[in-house]
Amino acid sequence: MVAQSGGFGLYGFRAYSCSYRCMGIACQSNFFFAGSASLWRRAHRSGTTTHIGGRLLWYADTLPLVVIKEERMRLEDLSSRDGRLASPSAERNKEAIAAVLLQVLPRSGFVLEIASGTGQHAVHFARVMPHLAWQPTERDQDCLRSISAWAAVETQATMQEPLYLDVTDPHWPVEAADAIICINMLHIAPWSTAQTLLCGASRILPPAGLLCLYGPYRVAGKHTSASNRAFDAQLRAMNPEWGIRDLNAVSNEARAFNIKLARTFEMPANNLIAVFQKS
Ligand SMILES: C[S@@+](CC[C@H](N)C(=O)[O-])C[C@H]1O[C@@H](n2cnc3c(N)ncnc32)[C@H](O)[C@@H]1O
Repeated sequence: MVAQSGGFGLYGFRAYSCSYRCMGIACQSNFFFAGSASLWRRAHRSGTTTHIGGRLLWYADTLPLVVIKEERMRLEDLSSRDGRLASPSAERNKEAIAAVLLQVLPRSGFVLEIASGTGQHAVHFARVMPHLAWQPTERDQDCLRSISAWAAVETQATMQEPLYLDVTDPHWPVEAADAIICINMLHIAPWSTAQTLLCGASRILPPAGLLCLYGPYRVAGKHTSASNRAFDAQLRAMNPEWGIRDLNAVSNEARAFNIKLARTFEMPANNLIAVFQKS
């Protein structure tokens, strides 16, 4: 655990960045606690920490401490070099995903990638699809830095500078795109995030524009493998709002935004690519 302490006026703060494993899953949580110096002293005497279900809980009888917690779950260990984060799973799946995207995406145009993560996918896709302008986006600042770092090393003329985009914000920094790609986000976000993604996609896609979603899905209410079932249970234990989505539920929701499921591709490791098309 990395801890930093500081103060302002009568108040002190402590920031913790904590990496740990929960049920075999690599997690990182950042906490910011602020309170008066006397509260801190009492909290220090009486407080204790424990892990429960992937959340780090702070017990102290010294309420009210102000606790602001930003929690970020990573489902794997990311290595870092020159600011470039490296995800082993992105490295493993980028070629299989690119092979499908090459089949379905238009021969020219502007592609918006949502939740680009480390940027490994974006630089790879920009390399193998130089006929498309590739726009990576993220809401996580470490990821945005990583995407820029990958772009600096593997310069691709068609890849744009990454943009901050949180799909739950009503205003997106991109007003139009010929296609949208989103990889491995829906299960690591609340259901409302899927709804806002579909709403935003409907707003910025032209008629016949594509939205490609990659990840694990339940099909007709059932998990497609025992490993996906176990993964779903892990996700829900970490955050009850997370979990592997049912493709029918996503497809029904999409219809409300004039987007129809057009095709699915079975992918390695029990994942799917679901290709949706705006009416
Ligand atoms: C498991 S990672 C997947 C990253 C990358 N697409 C990949 O497959 O390697 C999930 C990503 O979703 C992003 N994310 C979660 N909620 C988001 C939101 N509301 N808007 C945009 N990105 C979001 C996170 O920042 C994280 O980078």
